[in-house]
Amino acid sequence: MPIKPLLAVLKGHRPAVPPIWLMRQAGRYLPEYRALRAEKGGFLALATDPDCAAEVTVQPIRRFGFDGAILFSDILMVPWALGQDLSFGVGEGPRLEPPLVDHLFSALEAVPERLEPVYGTVAKVAGLLPPQTTFLGFAGSPWTVATYMVAGKGSKDQGETRRFAYRDPQAFGAIVDAIADMTVEYLARQIENGVEAVQLFDSWAGSLSPAQFERWVIAPNARIVAGLTARCPGVPIIGFPKGAGGKLPAYARETGVHALGLDETVDPEWAAAHVPEGMPVQGNLDPLALITGGETLDAAIDRILSAFADRPHIFNLGHGILPDTPIAHVERLIARVRNPA
Ligand code: CP3
Repeated sequence: MPIKPLLAVLKGHRPAVPPIWLMRQAGRYLPEYRALRAEKGGFLALATDPDCAAEVTVQPIRRFGFDGAILFSDILMVPWALGQDLSFGVGEGPRLEPPLVDHLFSALEAVPERLEPVYGTVAKVAGLLPPQTTFLGFAGSPWTVATYMVAGKGSKDQGETRRFAYRDPQAFGAIVDAIADMTVEYLARQIENGVEAVQLFDSWAGSLSPAQFERWVIAPNARIVAGLTARCPGVPIIGFPKGAGGKLPAYARETGVHALGLDETVDPEWAAAHVPEGMPVQGNLDPLALITGGETLDAAIDRILSAFADRPHIFNLGHGILPDTPIAHVERLIARVRNPA
């Protein structure tokens, strides 16, 4: 069988038409997702039921024929397995209890069995995908995951966690190391059950000063890449340090990731010139350009395609697809990437 297009790009090939998938493609902008979620009663019930989670993973492939299917799960499954309670209230975002800003991490008791249903989902999906579709696993990067564990919820500027990291780098480092170690195990088990490449989401990498970025973004991601590559050699790892800006080249060189995810604030021309030569890039359409649609969308797509014409490129958004995105705009995007003007 010929190598799958998305996997081929991750290995450094450059097909005439770039493969495409969208971050957060399995989720709330899809009516079929919302129907299943309502039936199950909540996100965690969906994510821990392998039949349902496999169905949600495959929904966007069935509807749009994306080149990549991303496992339906969440980056907060790791804090749950590290012993915090996890809940997703309607309209208020995730909660982790107790928040580590005022509870000792060492007092938590890890429950790694909580990740078992995810491996069941992976095994099911692997048998459901069309032969040309690449199956992607993922985890959050330690810094981003730690921001939720410390605050107990999402936060505007990650201020509490940044203060914690300055105040007590040793205690914070112990949390980051524990997340990194569990993440290696979690991703290795995803790979052993059938995912073909993985992505590390560092959604809040942009909130750190350069020295803190080295310590809490680059170092733990390098540790994960080294650990995972030792256990699962040859499996590509995509790093996505959202908001890293001018720190992207250092991140790309020093972490050892095989491909680089770019957010929508990165100028594709700048990235084409500054990301290490030959490294595959992924991105970076503004999710709001996708919502806007029409000629604005077409122009934004064309700009990205032209900037990355000479390098391995996976078309994607610069961040997750938003719930109010019109389905017709996703269809227009795919058509234009596959049949450029
Ligand atoms: O990409 C996919 O479609 C696969 C599944 C996936 C989810 N979350 C499902 C989900 C992935 C890859 C994630 C990653 C994730 N989760 C990140 C990193 C990427 C990013 O968007 O920055 C982060 C920071 C989280 C944490 C998280 N999970 C938040 C802040 C929220 C609430 C707000 C939101 O984005 O919906 C979640 C809940 C969540 N995770 C939902 C889904 C489909 C919505 C749950 C629902 O149905 O209400």
